[in-house]
Order: sequence, then C-alpha cells, then structure tokens
Amino acid sequence: MIGNQGGKVTLTPGFKKMLESRFEERVRFDAPMSDYTSFGVGGPADALVAPADTSELIDLLRALEQEGIDWFVLGGGTNLLVTDAGIRGVVLSLREGFGGIVTQKKDADHQEQVLVHAGAGARLSALCRYAVAHNLRGMNFAVGIPGTVGGAIIMNAGTAEGAIDSVLSAIDVLHVPDQPGIISRDELLFTYRGLEFKPSMRGQSGHEPIVLAGRFSLKPEYGRRLAAEAEALLAERRKNQPAGLSAGCVFKNPSAQMPAGRLIDRAGLKGQRIGDALVSEVHANFIINCNKAGADDILRLMEIIREKVYLECGVELKPEIKIVGE
Ligand code: EPU
Repeated sequence: MIGNQGGKVTLTPGFKKMLESRFEERVRFDAPMSDYTSFGVGGPADALVAPADTSELIDLLRALEQEGIDWFVLGGGTNLLVTDAGIRGVVLSLREGFGGIVTQKKDADHQEQVLVHAGAGARLSALCRYAVAHNLRGMNFAVGIPGTVGGAIIMNAGTAEGAIDSVLSAIDVLHVPDQPGIISRDELLFTYRGLEFKPSMRGQSGHEPIVLAGRFSLKPEYGRRLAAEAEALLAERRKNQPAGLSAGCVFKNPSAQMPAGRLIDRAGLKGQRIGDALVSEVHANFIINCNKAGADDILRLMEIIREKVYLECGVELKPEIKIVGE
C-alpha cells in the first residue's frame, strides 16, 4: 500500500487548482488506473500528472513533499496490480516528457561499445527496435517484454536470454526532490527482478532516487542478423505466452530449476478462475483478466495459487508484480 491514509493527506482544492493551471491537459483527476495498466484493473488515482521535463518534475516534487502528499512513479503499468480502491495521492507518469532515445558516444571504458541513452518513459520495445535499426547488439534479450525503460530498470527486467543489469552502464536519476545525478552500474545493487539503492543514495526526503533514463552499452553488429534473432525470439514468446489483459508473469521463479509456471501447472491450477480472473491455459504463471475482473478477484486467485503450490510442492511463491493502492 502506498499513501499516508492514516494521516489522510488529501489533495486540497488549492493544490488541485495549482495542478490544473500548471499542467492543464497533462493532469487528470480521479484517473481510473484501469486505463493505465495492462491488467485493465485498478480504481482511481487522486491525480495523474505527466511532467514535460526535469524542471517541471522538480517543481512538482518540491510541492508534493512540502504538502506531505504521497506520490508514486508509474512506468508502463505492465507489471502492476492497482487495488480496486485506487491510489491516494499523485501518480507521476514519465511517458510524455522522458521518452527520448539517442546514441551518445563510444563508451569511454569499452571503446568497441556504443552508449545509447534511453529515457525512463520510452517503451522497452522501442529501445529494442532502435538497437536493431542502429546495428547494435545487446537488447534482444528484452524482445517481447512490455513496459517502459524506467520500469525495466527498477525491475531488472529479463528473460532466459539476459537482464537489464547486463547491458546497463549507468542511470540518470533525480534524488528527490531536486538533485539530478548519474549513478554508474558499479554503484547499483541489482537482484533477480529488482534494483536496490544504497541508503546514501536516498535524497534529503528519504525516498529512493527516481530513474529518469538508462545508458545502455551496446555492441556494433550486423542489423539483419539482429532482426532475424529478434523475430525468432518474439515468435517463441508468442507461442509460449498468452495474449489478453495481463501483467506478464505474476510470481517470481523460486529458482531456474523451479520456474513458477511449472509449479503452478503441476498443482493443476491452469483454468482456475475467480470472477473474470483466470489462470492462463497457455502459461500458468499468467493471470488473465478475461473481461471485467477486479483487483480483488486477481488477489484472491493469487492467494489460491500460493496456497495450492505450497501444499503440493512445499514452495512459497512470491509475487513478481507490484501491488499498489489503498
Ligand atoms: N512451464 C510449464 N507450464 C507452464 C508454463 C511453463 O511447465 O504453464 C515450464 C516450461 O515448459 C519451461 C519452464 O516452465 O520448462 C519455464 O517456462 P518459460 O520458458 O516460459 O519461462 P519462465 O521462467 O516461465 C521467464 C520470465 C518471463 C520471460 C520468459 C522468457 C520470470 C518470472 N519469467 O518465464 O518473463 O518472458 O522467461 O524468457 O522470470 C515477466 O517477467 O513478466 C515474464 C513473462
């Protein structure tokens, strides 16, 4: 849960007015999070704001911190389950102002490498396509992973072919509320599907830094070869993974030898359904929102999966998706 529900810090009419005049069409009040998540579920956020650039983001964060209003950075919403009650506070979207992808220069430490700078709000799929179009190897592991570059960095998104930490050279961050900085790969503690920041990297507010962009170290390669590889990987994903409203894999793999999908499958849970939330028949670690599932349906189904897998296999599954909201 995010938010300061105990303290009930809500958006005052004055604060709403300020947001409205400053962000105009880039602020939406009572924004249904079902519109912003690939699961297609989630109640309203008090406000969703898309700052145009770093200076707007800084101004907004200063105001939020000053008022004691909670905030939350939204990536692509593809790995997210927002509760039916929604999110109290302000959701920050970096999709509009932080989506650029440019080639920077040769990586100074690795002369044969090329550095690509991708904004946190860029689609990861756009970065994969950019790399292929510019004859650069390194991003194909991520072909078919939905979401944004920022979300992928925070989650250390990956597949059997690799993960973000293997290609990242540094990240551009904002130490909350107002100190931009660059953190090199060596200073970052990546875990399986996660990124931890050293306590010293928290700004005066105590918040973890906000990821504004990634600098990816890629290698020159013949583009056609990359395109063929990417196509084969995508075809493989499409074969093994279901279409429809989902947040990708719901649980982390307890280990490489014990993928969650296999455990859930063995526990006989494919096709299990609560309301419109369904354990996929194609891949058991996907829950599909078949029509009008609520977050509660999905949460109950997750609980059933955890219990049954624990009973049948003695393994405790941990969610990979992030659950946020009141
Ligand atoms: N399996 C089953 N039944 C199922 C699903 C899978 O028996 O219903 C078995 C497969 O036969 C295979 C093994 O489980 O032997 C692993 O399955 P798969 O190759 O599909 O990989 P995964 O570990 O389930 C991971 C990532 C995916 C990523 C794929 C492709 C995690 C939790 N999942 O899935 O990432 O797309 O590899 O490389 O790490 C995601 O993060 O949202 C996600 C979908």
